[in-house]
Amino acid sequence: MRILLSLAALAFPMWAQFEEQVGDVPYVPTPPEVVEQMMKLGQVKPGDVIYDLGCGDGRLVITAIKRHGAVKGVGIDINPVRVKEANENAAKEGVSAKAKFIEQDLFKADFSEATVVTLYLLPEVNLRLKPILLQQLKPGTRIVSHQFDMGEWKPEKTVEIEWRRVHVWTVPPKGTVVK
Ligand SMILES: C[S@@+](CC[C@H](N)C(=O)[O-])C[C@H]1O[C@@H](n2cnc3c(N)ncnc32)[C@H](O)[C@@H]1O
Repeated sequence: MRILLSLAALAFPMWAQFEEQVGDVPYVPTPPEVVEQMMKLGQVKPGDVIYDLGCGDGRLVITAIKRHGAVKGVGIDINPVRVKEANENAAKEGVSAKAKFIEQDLFKADFSEATVVTLYLLPEVNLRLKPILLQQLKPGTRIVSHQFDMGEWKPEKTVEIEWRRVHVWTVPPKGTVVK
């Protein structure tokens, strides 16, 4: 059953909405306090370039630009409805010049310019993505994931907010063996 209804809607938020899933992960937005914790763990600061893989309504990219000084943010989502919403939200928040939202499969995206990557996906999607992240990203890039980890690649830090978790990793120097 579609990977247990996508892991009971990304580990049990009170599924506010349950719409037809497009792509590998259902749409469940990250709550504002968890967005802020993701910014904090990812040390998002002026000059950063943030990519949110599976960006939903664009909230992570918009927050990184508007509140933390990121110079550029790119959100990638396979669902055109989300991309439209994200663009509308960026316009409303006055960050369209720095925020770009692309309708694309995240597994086919080039995110190599990122200095911070954010994720709210699923455990098996994170595992499929891990070698691509390690191949594309520069050493020192931070990867922040809401809720799900990367299997044997242990996070540097995990913060709990009630029942939710936020994990962070730093891309190691090229050639480092990551399990
Ligand atoms: C759990 S939501 C997270 C949204 C946003 N990142 C947040 O934290 O609020 C996951 C998003 O990933 C998108 N998605 C699922 N599979 C995808 C894929 N293969 N490529 C790009 N986006 C995908 C969904 O459309 C959905 O908007």
